[in-house]
Amino acid sequence: KEQTYIMVKPDGVQRGLVGEIIARFEKRGFKLVAMKLVHATPEHLEKPATDYADLKGKPFFPGLIKYMASGPVVGMVWEGLDAVKTGRVMLGATKPLESAPGTIRGDYALAVGRNICHGSDAVESAQNEIALWFPEGVTQYSIANEGWIFE
Ligand code: GTP
Ligand code: MG
Repeated sequence: KEQTYIMVKPDGVQRGLVGEIIARFEKRGFKLVAMKLVHATPEHLEKPATDYADLKGKPFFPGLIKYMASGPVVGMVWEGLDAVKTGRVMLGATKPLESAPGTIRGDYALAVGRNICHGSDAVESAQNEIALWFPEGVTQYSIANEGWIFE
């Protein structure tokens, strides 16, 4: 099954949205295989394996790193069918003006630079991000109701 890296950003942690975001992924049918709360350093956030290295040079990049390093984040690995694409749909569009109600950003965010959550944008970047944030690896286990979630 596919895995994706989902992260509650510092504003999501401060606003008490960790449980809400976990609940949405649980209820959708995804399986949690790794999770940790960490206060990331700018050096870690700028590593090539993160989704943010590509954004170096953008005018908002320094502010993005400052924001992401401003407090703890909750990183998670969720596993299931089409986890990467479905995860992005659940997060909603990057810009809150375009994120649909019912998505996490569409329900809780107003500013692009305070958009609550991150999700891997491709299967390959998910693998890189999972290795970066969870070098110790993820957990393998089975849940009893998989036959009711997958055909
Ligand atoms: P992530 O899941 O966080 O990677 O967001 P994304 O994949 O939807 O967007 P992208 O990777 O292009 O940008 C990463 C993050 O940079 C966004 O989530 C925003 O927090 C921030 N960002 C992107 N574009 C802008 C912008 O135009 N202005 C500001 N202030 N922040 C931006
Ligand atoms: Mg991105």
